[in-house]
Amino acid sequence: MTHRDAREDWRRFDATAIPSKESTPHLDRFLADVAATAAGRPPLALLDIGCGDGRLTKRLHDRGFAVTGVDVSPAAVRAAQALAATIDETDRPLRFHVADMAADDPPRLESAPFDVVVCQLVLSIIGEEGHRRNLMRHARSNLVPGGWLYLSASGVSDAINPGYARLYAADFPQTGERHTYYSRDAEGRILYATHHFTSEELASLLEQEGFSDRTVTTEREASSRRPEEAAYFLYATCRNGSHTPSRRSPISPQSWT
Ligand SMILES: C[S@@+](CC[C@H](N)C(=O)[O-])C[C@H]1O[C@@H](n2cnc3c(N)ncnc32)[C@H](O)[C@@H]1O
Repeated sequence: MTHRDAREDWRRFDATAIPSKESTPHLDRFLADVAATAAGRPPLALLDIGCGDGRLTKRLHDRGFAVTGVDVSPAAVRAAQALAATIDETDRPLRFHVADMAADDPPRLESAPFDVVVCQLVLSIIGEEGHRRNLMRHARSNLVPGGWLYLSASGVSDAINPGYARLYAADFPQTGERHTYYSRDAEGRILYATHHFTSEELASLLEQEGFSDRTVTTEREASSRRPEEAAYFLYATCRNGSHTPSRRSPISPQSWT
């Protein structure tokens, strides 16, 4: 088990250099499907977990969702709030809050529950396995029954990139977990731990945390921080299988078919 505190790593991380993805075809298709299913209804409420500097969150808002972004980094949330200040929120809100979504007991979010949760490039950098479970549990507890989760994660990539095999092996004595290594800066200083998932591992985590209708797709792409390096990415969608009554449920589970 890694002895680093991933939350501290991300609170310290330079908010102007947070990794993201400009091209998001899986997410775009997912959002189009969701929007088509909900056509004619009020703006759907969407939670962007690990929103970083808000670039992706703003794109989600531009697509017609009422969006709340949360991040563990106060500097990232400040940058996101500055971005939100430049846009027209008359029709639907765009809000940002600091929240540790991997904590054992996360803060209850004011605008919960949400119709949709997006969690892009976050699960892999959460650090400890128990905290990754917390993240998935809190994603689900913030969804309406039948609501959708979209997430992307890094995939085990040693078969297409021997550099990852070396990284997994070199850092294993410190991380204590297979397929986990430390992402480092140009000077070799550790930035944060990254866990690469097999698709079975990700599907099993989602199942154990109570998500239904699970799909996991693997794509060969390039590392988000090192574009010259081949890497697998996993894209998952699933639903909150829970039928616990919720405070607000603008979309009935039956309509999400
Ligand atoms: C690789 S970035 C992805 C940013 C954004 N999702 C995107 O795709 O553009 C990961 C983000 O997750 C945030 N994060 C890390 N641990 C977190 C936690 N426990 N709770 C909330 N956010 C967290 C980091 O601060 C960082 O902004």
